[in-house]
Amino acid sequence: MKIKVNKGKSTEYSICLEPDFENLKKALEPLETKERKICIVADSITAGLYLQPLKESLEGCCRQISQFVFQAGEKHKTLDTVKDLYEHLILEKYDRKDLLMALGGGVVGDLTGFAAATYLRGIRFVQVPTTLLSQVDSSIGGKTGVDFDAYKNMVGAFHMPSLVYMNLETLKSLPERQFASGMGEIIKHGLIQDNAYYQWLTEHGQEIADREYDALLYMVSGSCQIKKHVVEQDPTEQGIRSWLNFGHTIGHAVEKLKEFTLCHGECVAIGSVAAAWISRERGYLTGDELLQIEKVFQNYHLPVRVGGLEPDRILEATKLDKKMEAGKIKFVLLKRIGEAFVAKDVEDRELLGAIRYICEENVHE
Ligand SMILES: NC(=O)c1ccc[n+]([C@@H]2O[C@H](COP(=O)([O-])OP(=O)(O)OC[C@H]3O[C@@H](n4cnc5c(N)ncnc54)[C@H](O)[C@@H]3O)[C@@H](O)[C@H]2O)c1
Ligand SMILES: [Zn+2]
Repeated sequence: MKIKVNKGKSTEYSICLEPDFENLKKALEPLETKERKICIVADSITAGLYLQPLKESLEGCCRQISQFVFQAGEKHKTLDTVKDLYEHLILEKYDRKDLLMALGGGVVGDLTGFAAATYLRGIRFVQVPTTLLSQVDSSIGGKTGVDFDAYKNMVGAFHMPSLVYMNLETLKSLPERQFASGMGEIIKHGLIQDNAYYQWLTEHGQEIADREYDALLYMVSGSCQIKKHVVEQDPTEQGIRSWLNFGHTIGHAVEKLKEFTLCHGECVAIGSVAAAWISRERGYLTGDELLQIEKVFQNYHLPVRVGGLEPDRILEATKLDKKMEAGKIKFVLLKRIGEAFVAKDVEDRELLGAIRYICEENVHE
């Protein structure tokens, strides 16, 4: 399956959803890589699982392949790792027409994209995302970057990939918790843009949990279409792209205060429930819809409450989030299931009500 994404100007890139790496060669043809070098960037886990088959599928596609592997984990998404990668590229004499290829989750994709954006003022890169989160979210849209000290994604650039190639079979080796983390973003996609997609998710929990190929294909392509639609209309986040931040304002605060012991998608689930709570307070959602949203997250093994944090501290951290405009928090709410909007008038009282709700211990069964 192929989705075309407009890069702006006249160029576009393809998103391929495939059951293996076999069609990568064909997908690379338009990039004219035959005389080029490709550096595969992977982390220690994805290298062990997929570097070999990926290399085999690249045979004959390019002049030379090299690899750069770094330790898995968010704590290595740093400028130090980028520096090591630059060194590799310089030693191996990569020039402006050569390519990087990111094999891994969002950490590998963000870091590789950033190196590609900056090495020799920008070279091409290909995303080969292997986590659910990276397939439906981080590999599309051109946001790249690394963390700086305790600040997440503090240094970065917009740099579009030349191709996104997803081998959906790689999702089979993904640990349960990482899979659930991706589901957080997927459910969010339904909530902000597409009620029918959201309903489909409520009805196909078993096939998805079993990671059946057809269900994964429908779901990953559904989410990619939504992300593509939003990003194409608003590539630099002036308007509707901020809908994608639904659940992220309070979610990020929780993520930070929990010192990144929760997965990103888990925090998105908690933050989404908080945002849905405010939407219900304002009369946009019914009480039943709020409860159903919680149930959907829970069915996909995501938390909807957080323990051990003081509501006041979450409020404080929420207001420090970078999604502020002229001192006003830009908060994404739901007008209804399947349609989001940005509210700039959310008051502390509402935020605190929502935060208290997600800190409550009793979850409705
Ligand atoms: N650029 C964007 O628009 C964007 C959007 C959302 C998130 N992000 C970033 O993405 C990152 C999170 O991405 P992630 O959740 O993919 O984390 P990740 O890249 O750290 O991957 C999670 C873990 O799964 C392992 N893994 C990857 N693929 C696997 C597979 N197929 N089988 C088994 N294990 C596998 C990884 O080695 C890692 O240990 C964060 O740094 C976040 O800031 C970026
Ligand atoms: Zn997110």
